[in-house]
Amino acid sequence: MAGAPVSSYSKTQVWLHWSIAALILVQFVAHDGMQHVWRALRRGQEAAAGDWPLAYMHVVLGLAVLVLAAWRLWLRSTRGVPPVSGMEHPALQLLARLTHLAFYALIFIVPLSGAAAWFLRVPGAGLVHGIGKNILLYVVLLHIVGALVQHFVLKSNVLRQMLAFRQA
Ligand code: HEM
Ligand code: HEM
Repeated sequence: MAGAPVSSYSKTQVWLHWSIAALILVQFVAHDGMQHVWRALRRGQEAAAGDWPLAYMHVVLGLAVLVLAAWRLWLRSTRGVPPVSGMEHPALQLLARLTHLAFYALIFIVPLSGAAAWFLRVPGAGLVHGIGKNILLYVVLLHIVGALVQHFVLKSNVLRQMLAFRQA
């Protein structure tokens, strides 16, 4: 993913990073309503009235991830992002790059497959959604470990940069 070399993330990139992360967290924590509604629909049964608002919330927040992901990808390709830094070992640099690449794929694949299942009833889309969200979860865990190692072990500036909500 190319982009001009810049030395830090812009304020918008920082906000986009954490907004998407927060939305994804909510999607994982509050998926019960969607799960119940989806199961009922597939069995041709009535879903409980109380589950619908949560199912709609899942759809709206998931589509918000998609829109923000497109904005973020566009910013990344026009403005650029700082190079992966703070890690001397090429294998760790490669791992960080692969993690970021996987994220960019997943923040599109997961909502798009969810939408394909929900709106179009595309066969297999629900399965892709389920597998995608599991992979996303593991990539998030790996990414968090990486960020904490960067900050506490390698003492790099990377986490501080991603927390700079107020810089220009
Ligand atoms: C990044 C965004 C999203 C994340 C992280 C996410 C996450 C999840 C999770 C954790 C589940 C529960 C699956 C299970 O219990 O096995 C789920 C189910 C589901 N989601 Fe999403 N979702 C996202 C976006 C969307 C969107 C945009 C839609 C629809 C427009 C959608 C539709 C569905 C459907 C239909 C299910 C039930 C599928 C099934 O269980 O097979 N999701 N999602
Ligand atoms: C669902 C949650 C998350 C997603 C999808 C995500 C995604 C990403 C992506 C794609 C990048 C690459 C930079 C870019 O292109 O914008 C990045 C960078 C970064 N993320 Fe996350 N992230 C998530 C959660 C977190 C969390 C919880 C932390 C902290 C514990 C974190 C800390 C960082 C840091 C420090 C960077 C900068 C890395 C660097 O410049 O080398 N992220 N994140």
